[in-house]
Amino acid sequence: MADQFDLVVIGSGPGGYVGAIRAAQLGLKVAVVEKWPTLGGTCLNIGCIPSKALLHASELFEEAGHGFKQLGIDIPAPVLNLQQMLAHKSDVVASNVGGVDYLFKKNKITVFRGTGSIPAAGKVLVTPQSGAAQEIETKNIVIATGSVSANLPGIDIDEKTVVTSTGALSLDKVPGHLLVIGAGVIGLELGSVWLRLGAKVTVVEYLDRILPGMDSEVARQFQRMLQKQGMEFKLSSKVSGVQKDAGGALKVQVEPAKGGQAEVIDADIALVAIGRKPFTEGLGLEGAGVALDERGRVKVDGHYKSSVDGIYAIGDVIAGPMLAHKAEDEGIAVAEILAGQAGHVNYAAIPSVVYTNPEVASVGKTEDELKADGVNYKIGKFPFTANGRAKAMLATQGFVKILADVETDRVLGAHIVGKNAGEMIHELVTLMEFSGAAEDLARTTHAHPTLSEAVREAALALGDGAIHI
Ligand code: FAD
Ligand code: NAI
Repeated sequence: MADQFDLVVIGSGPGGYVGAIRAAQLGLKVAVVEKWPTLGGTCLNIGCIPSKALLHASELFEEAGHGFKQLGIDIPAPVLNLQQMLAHKSDVVASNVGGVDYLFKKNKITVFRGTGSIPAAGKVLVTPQSGAAQEIETKNIVIATGSVSANLPGIDIDEKTVVTSTGALSLDKVPGHLLVIGAGVIGLELGSVWLRLGAKVTVVEYLDRILPGMDSEVARQFQRMLQKQGMEFKLSSKVSGVQKDAGGALKVQVEPAKGGQAEVIDADIALVAIGRKPFTEGLGLEGAGVALDERGRVKVDGHYKSSVDGIYAIGDVIAGPMLAHKAEDEGIAVAEILAGQAGHVNYAAIPSVVYTNPEVASVGKTEDELKADGVNYKIGKFPFTANGRAKAMLATQGFVKILADVETDRVLGAHIVGKNAGEMIHELVTLMEFSGAAEDLARTTHAHPTLSEAVREAALALGDGAIHI
């Protein structure tokens, strides 16, 4: 007699594994189906975690090479040991995915290894790489199969010279010239890694700006900072073809986005970073009657239920920002809903961080969105050049920008470019969770000297004025 579960989650990424843990904590009998050899999904294996390991290591390499002298630290030029840097990345990944194994055991979650498909509501078929398929019975199914890199038509990805983020996290030598297609988060983060390690980096972007979706003033200033570091941009341009010569070198055709004369750029590696698409292949959703939207995402209602009772979906495979913490919070919410509680995610207060140097962090509305919505808003800004701690750290690039409603003073959005912006954004996320006003933040004592004082000063600028400018 087959086991009967309360919940079977397909996919063990941040959405799936966090949802499984919360469901088990709430007393449900839970299983997870995962087709990869390790748990943790894109984020832990080939996404957030390995990229941050390389971003951290390459930032220190850069700093040791260029930033120490002014601080009075004279050292010989650092020598890159790329194999060790990649080994550090692999160790960090192993430690994180091992952590999920531990948490599953601790919470008595059963793991089935293989590809999961859904013959009908209440049933999940697990097909392992070898051996017989097995059918599991369950009251509820959560689809958490995530996303995969999008590709350009006619461009063959071999993950050696024409790569997605996965190949770009494992290059065995620093490319002479890395051509990045797409000035989004992946392009700028992984472009930064290889730029710091010595590559020439050219970013080709279809639109006339970088980081679409981010506040456009922030994006403009951030682009200048990256250019100062040596990153080159070709905006309003598209790649129309990539040819490989016999020796493996690439000839990349780049033409104006609107069409016109193409130029050919020589490169050693091309990184395709034009977005990610939801992954539902092999799940048998059509047979099960699960509806998809026009972009191939599983359609869900406000409780993450698909068009079929008993089948739910969360994370990158449904609408919304493709972010690990968004997937995690949906995992918790769906588990709570299945356990009879009121699970909920506040989509108006999901932070987003680009882990470059400086970092870019934002939450809530951009100025562009407020303008388009006709909202009567005010802006409070404060530059890190006027922050004592930033001066001490030689980290004066960037600024804090807070947007608030003119009548109510309620904070509607916040955008930070600067060192540790990704940590600083959270006081604004919390403020927005509580529907806070700029004055609440302006009257909150901040320790001195900290970078976070710039956040408070931006809030003060929304009232009677910042003190230090
Ligand atoms: P995923 O993490 O994609 O996990 C899906 C899992 O499902 C995978 O393990 C897959 O093997 C499994 N699966 C799929 N189909 C089946 C099946 N039929 N049967 C069994 N198993 C199946 N987000 C951030 O918030 N911060 C970051 O810093 C960040 N950095 C990133 C860097 C890179 C290079 C990339 C590529 C992404 C990054 N992201 C980041 C995005 C983040 O990784 C995703 O938003 C997140 O992983 C989505 O989680 P998920 O649970 O929806 O799916
Ligand atoms: P993205 O959506 O962030 O950026 C893709 C970029 O490619 C856009 O600027 C787009 O205009 C451009 N583009 C699209 N087609 C193009 C073409 N044909 N030629 C040139 N440019 C083109 O996607 P990206 O960077 O691939 O990342 C995928 C997802 O992964 C993102 O949605 C992001 O949320 C997530 N991610 C998050 C990270 C973080 O939170 N720090 C880090 C890395 C990824």
